[in-house]
Amino acid sequence: MDRIVIEGGHRLIGEIDVSGSKNAALPLMVASLLTEEPVILRGMPDLVDIKTTRTLLSSLGVEVSGDRDMTFRASNLDSMEAPYDLVRKMRASILVLGPLVSRFGSAKVSLPGGCAIGVRPINLHLAGLKAMGVDINLEHGYVIANGKPGGAKIVLDFPTVGGTENLLMAATLADGTTVIENAAREPEIVELANLLNAMGARIEGAGSEIITIDGVPELHGADWNLMPDRIETGTLMAAAAITRGNVLLKGARAADLESVVRKLIDAGITVEQEQDGVRISCADRPRSVDVRTAPYPGFPTDMQAQIMALMATSMGTAVISETIFENRFMHVPELRRLGAQVQIEGRSAVVRGIELLSGATVMATDLRASASLVIAGLAASGTTIVRRVYHLDRGYERIEQKLADLGAQIKREEE
Ligand code: EPZ
Repeated sequence: MDRIVIEGGHRLIGEIDVSGSKNAALPLMVASLLTEEPVILRGMPDLVDIKTTRTLLSSLGVEVSGDRDMTFRASNLDSMEAPYDLVRKMRASILVLGPLVSRFGSAKVSLPGGCAIGVRPINLHLAGLKAMGVDINLEHGYVIANGKPGGAKIVLDFPTVGGTENLLMAATLADGTTVIENAAREPEIVELANLLNAMGARIEGAGSEIITIDGVPELHGADWNLMPDRIETGTLMAAAAITRGNVLLKGARAADLESVVRKLIDAGITVEQEQDGVRISCADRPRSVDVRTAPYPGFPTDMQAQIMALMATSMGTAVISETIFENRFMHVPELRRLGAQVQIEGRSAVVRGIELLSGATVMATDLRASASLVIAGLAASGTTIVRRVYHLDRGYERIEQKLADLGAQIKREEE
């Protein structure tokens, strides 16, 4: 198993490319199930979750080729089943449910089970499909879905990202019109809807609370450039800020993470959209700012751990509240090992900023928590060792290489 070793105290300076978005790529890859024609996705990140999705699609019979630019051809499927061994590795596998029932009228997908950050049920995905007339049964740990979806009005109890994506895909080939109310509004939803429309779907309102989908008899292929990863962008911003750096994040779109940019500006950090990307610079110690996670356009839960690392060395006290997942503070005890002054009070963490963190060996149990420890290590005195790097490899492409290119003293080594 690999670990990351960081000598803290080096400013990040320079330019770096932002990779393609993991959380957009996963549903886009799955959307290829909706057509027999090839779907080409360009600018794909090299990540473990992308490989897992590729393996899943191949196991269904999708022909997949390419690397950065991938081609998916779902002309003849061998199987309608997403097995437990793949779904337990990556919960987003549940996204095959909507497209499979929409195109073939049947699917068998393992129930994902819990996850380190929360229980993460899929009841809203299933209720939506049922409202569309799909017969859903739970047997031996699997969701068994039968019947082609028809148009329906669905009001989501919560704007679930994966649920909205699953229902959006199910509705594209449904017989009739589907309206999803209280839909998730994340940029990744807009990206998926735009790809589906490029494939011939008729979707309106993506990015707003109400999405309307007029079902069409079939979809065709498409050639698509993947959007930049807004959470990688935010993570690199936090890394630049904590080292008092000056970095141009090439290809990044500030508009996709306004809530994060606003908080950074409130903290005294400069963030500007330039022609080539987003520049972040931070000359002085940032001020503490309170943060409350919320569905888009609110502050993303996927940036909560990283902003906490930044607040750990800011001036003042920050209250960071997590409203999306019930167990997403696992980074707190590890940040405390680095000297951070953090107290958890219910669903909030109170972070009293200190001047300097102190390097230590730490580990995390999920992707963004691991990223927060890397950020903290960049600003800590001495050596920080981040263990269990496989979490980072699920969602950050060559993060240690990118940070090293910007001047960090960071390397990966075998334990
Ligand atoms: C997506 O997960 C992201 N994953 C997550 O990113 C992200 O944290 C999350 O959205 C929230 O922004 C991908 O896009 C692949 P949700 P998803 O359904 O779709 C509850 C990362 O680090 N809920 O919006 O699973 C659920 O329990 C990952 O990259 C139900 O109750 O998130 C949670 O509390 C982690 N019933 C809340 O809604 C349901 O049927 C938000 O979940 C579905 C969800």
